[in-house]
Amino acid sequence: MRLEEKERILIIGAGSKTASAIKEVLTAETPYELFFVEREPVPDFSEDVLIAGFTNRREIREVCLNIRPTVIVNTAAYTNVDKCEQDKQEAWVVNVKGVENLVQMSRLVDAHLIHFSTDYIFDGAKGPYTEEDKPHPLGYYGKTKLASENVCKGGNIPFTIIRTNVLYGSISVRHQDFVTWLLTKLEKEEKVKVVNDQYSNPTLVDDLGIAVERIIKRKRYGIYNIAGADWLNRWEFARRIADYFGFNKELIEAITTEQLAQSAPRPKHGGLVTLKAETDLRMKMSGIENGLSMIKQRLLREARERR
Ligand SMILES: NC(=O)c1ccc[n+]([C@@H]2O[C@H](COP(=O)([O-])OP(=O)(O)OC[C@H]3O[C@@H](n4cnc5c(N)ncnc54)[C@H](OP(=O)(O)O)[C@@H]3O)[C@@H](O)[C@H]2O)c1
Repeated sequence: MRLEEKERILIIGAGSKTASAIKEVLTAETPYELFFVEREPVPDFSEDVLIAGFTNRREIREVCLNIRPTVIVNTAAYTNVDKCEQDKQEAWVVNVKGVENLVQMSRLVDAHLIHFSTDYIFDGAKGPYTEEDKPHPLGYYGKTKLASENVCKGGNIPFTIIRTNVLYGSISVRHQDFVTWLLTKLEKEEKVKVVNDQYSNPTLVDDLGIAVERIIKRKRYGIYNIAGADWLNRWEFARRIADYFGFNKELIEAITTEQLAQSAPRPKHGGLVTLKAETDLRMKMSGIENGLSMIKQRLLREARERR
């Protein structure tokens, strides 16, 4: 790439929680030209969106040959962990075959592929996990995501895998996160049951945007864990959210994973160690208080704009 040329960044999955955060960070920086792909129009998205399915090789090839991206960022995935157990064929098509297409496109146009993965590639026996720990997925979602990592590694392309967990703080209206779901329930004074034996370090999506920008700018390859500063169980997280927003935390009942009986098995001690990103990307991971304060500011700004 010549010095005066901008990086041409193609973001797959414009409607995802992660794409919104990447857009916020990268549009604030000048050396990037951004292009977004989604399988159907995304309401209220401030940028133009190219309509194409990344699981359709012909469609995504046409987009890549037209745009000639220098970086492809894949945020699209079959992310419903429980549904993956019933809908295995579609989960494989989206999470593995789609990534195979993107690896081929990276090779075709000589682009750096940045792909997202998860701590669900681990069994949760001894989290939080480092980049070097040995994967052992429990459920089908984790299996497909591990396969997607292997597709990147075997593709003979420059790639970066960002592993993350329990995203929150998104402005995406299409895909709700745990905080938005909980606030909606608590606002209506509805009781909720939340597991107290699944541990993770919830991640403010804004941090993923910052990480992507640094990975592109510093040309970093390989695997990076990007996750929040606080490691806690989901029930504790829910109570912190209720406290911060002034809702009644007694509405949040603690239950165990066995009692909840979700379709997909969950890693209990999950989460990710972020030391590598803190040193190599100079990331400062957001803690829960900081993340919730960002959400509060965003909600207040939106309320002001509606007035
Ligand atoms: N959310 C988490 O807590 C979490 C945790 C760990 C890792 N991750 C990983 O982080 C990445 C981003 O997750 P996210 O939560 O931001 O995603 P998300 O909000 O759930 O959005 C998923 C995206 O994938 C697209 N998609 C789904 N099926 C598709 C298909 N058949 N063809 C084309 N596009 C399709 C969706 O399109 P539509 O909008 O049209 O549905 C949407 O843009 C994923 O790789 C995920 O595995 C997420």
